[in-house]
Amino acid sequence: MCALSSIAVVRTYPGIAESATRVEARGPGRVNLIGEHTDYNGGLALPFAIARGVTVTAEAVGGDSVAVEALDLGESDEFAYANPARETGWKAFARGIVAELGVTSGARLEIQGDLPHGAGLSSSAALSAALALALLGLEGRDMGGLELARLCARVENEWVGSPTGLLDQLAVLFAREGEALRIDFQTLELSHVPLDLGDWTLATLDSGVTHDNATSGYIDRREECERACELLGIESLREAVEADVARLPEPLDRRVRYVLEENARVDTAVAALTRGDLFELGRLLDASHAGLRDLYEVSTPEVERTVAAMADAGAVGARIVGGGFGGAVLGLFRPGARLPEDALVAEPGPPARLV
Ligand code: GLA
Repeated sequence: MCALSSIAVVRTYPGIAESATRVEARGPGRVNLIGEHTDYNGGLALPFAIARGVTVTAEAVGGDSVAVEALDLGESDEFAYANPARETGWKAFARGIVAELGVTSGARLEIQGDLPHGAGLSSSAALSAALALALLGLEGRDMGGLELARLCARVENEWVGSPTGLLDQLAVLFAREGEALRIDFQTLELSHVPLDLGDWTLATLDSGVTHDNATSGYIDRREECERACELLGIESLREAVEADVARLPEPLDRRVRYVLEENARVDTAVAALTRGDLFELGRLLDASHAGLRDLYEVSTPEVERTVAAMADAGAVGARIVGGGFGGAVLGLFRPGARLPEDALVAEPGPPARLV
């Protein structure tokens, strides 16, 4: 494949290996350029980390509990680190990360962020990564990036109840500033792809409908893909081929067609970025959205209105991002374009880190 630099999964977090009494960690949000609903299908995706994110400040305080304050929400929580009881919402993230890391000392945590919730920009991976890094930093412990990504995903799956894949966690932990990350979910091979936009802009626009992967049709789509695999006698849809589509009943045939086409679009997008063809990237965003709307069926009337608003503002391509059934739309704009009023520029940023 083109001139990409492949990386082994060796990044270590936070990589300081000495305890501290106060640390600050930042977890970025992510935008998935293309490759949606492919992670749990052993497919391909091309996300990048964005400058917006979540900051967690952690202080060692002794005792046997962890106290957490979510400053933006004006809410707080306190629990024994040894065996935290289950909670919901943001509290489930904090309790899950503390439990899964096996924290062994008292701490006070403050959470603050500039990332809209439920907008498809992965505020959840940003929060888990920042919480985990802050707690590891306090205790002077290191952890391999892949292990940490899996730990954060486990918290989201088992503590929060969202059956999501590994896309968001790998994106926020392995992205590099100014680059997109090509992820092959079958092999977990990660490759960096320069995201050279020149004076072009990527921006997101919220559809106004908050999505929740724990309750939305996201779970139905996952089940449909599993059913298609059972019928085809394969482990993941990565092994499906074009001829399989016709063997499946409605709507499973459309779901599989979408996944096959979206995987192919990821590598077409990598090639377009490599030769600097941003018009082609725009065309691919439109094609991805058409598949998500007509074949995978994760769009909503509000999302369609948001895509139309992006197109009216002159986007050369726009598509729904994230789990679907609401959330944000990503648009690609030529130099000098006037973005819709509420659009947020998706500035590529660095991965999760101690500040
Ligand atoms: C959400 C999930 C990811 C991925 C996307 C769809 O963001 O957290 O794991 O499945 O939806 O691409």
